Amino acid sequence: MERRCKLAPSLLEADYRFLDEQLKEMERAGADCVHIDVMDGTFVPNLSFGMKMIQSIRRSTRLEFDVHMMVQEPHRFMEWMIKAGADTLTVHYEACKDVEKTLAFIKNAGIKAGVALKPGTSLEVLSTPLLKMVDVVHLMTVEPGLEGQVFIPESLNRISEVRKRLDEVHPACDIEVDGNITPENIKSVVAAGASIIVAGKAVFTGNMVDNICRMRQLMAD
Ligand code: DX5
Ligand code: ZN
Repeated sequence: MERRCKLAPSLLEADYRFLDEQLKEMERAGADCVHIDVMDGTFVPNLSFGMKMIQSIRRSTRLEFDVHMMVQEPHRFMEWMIKAGADTLTVHYEACKDVEKTLAFIKNAGIKAGVALKPGTSLEVLSTPLLKMVDVVHLMTVEPGLEGQVFIPESLNRISEVRKRLDEVHPACDIEVDGNITPENIKSVVAAGASIIVAGKAVFTGNMVDNICRMRQLMAD
């Protein structure tokens, strides 16, 4: 199946003094969506953005908001996140009491639903009914929530394995990769089957426009 790869700059690594400007520049440079990490200090040892912030920056860009909930029991916040402007809501399998119920709630709201797995979570948790109901399988390629980690090489096998399963049961579903994706490894994650590429430091370190163009070009080659 022909699939267009998308680049999703991760706002966590932006310069927060100039968010409005950076979102507009990101859109002009050819980013496909904005990745927004929500952290609760419990599921991951850090805090980040919340609903008010998302609602406020919604006015800065037309780019899709890809919201990654690194939050314990994320169902508590689903309604507010949808109102705030999420286009995709991704919840961690490990954080949900009833992951299928949470995903069904997202789907019923008319937006895209994603399920995320930490690097150590067995792929066996991805049952066929679960794969059929999501728009995105989000594979963490570092441990979530901590900065400065390196890409886990075993992730490539996990991407191919999930792609194979999806091709059998839900070919339209995307695989999103998140954590230390760089110009050096972007081609290998795309070749393994990833189609939504999150990039933080690789986009925001140095010249953002040049970085986005380079990453997009490497994805397409
Ligand atoms: C990691 C976050 C990522 C992070 C990616 O916990 O989920 O979205 O911001 O940033 P890089 O690409 O710099 O690892
Ligand atoms: Zn993320």
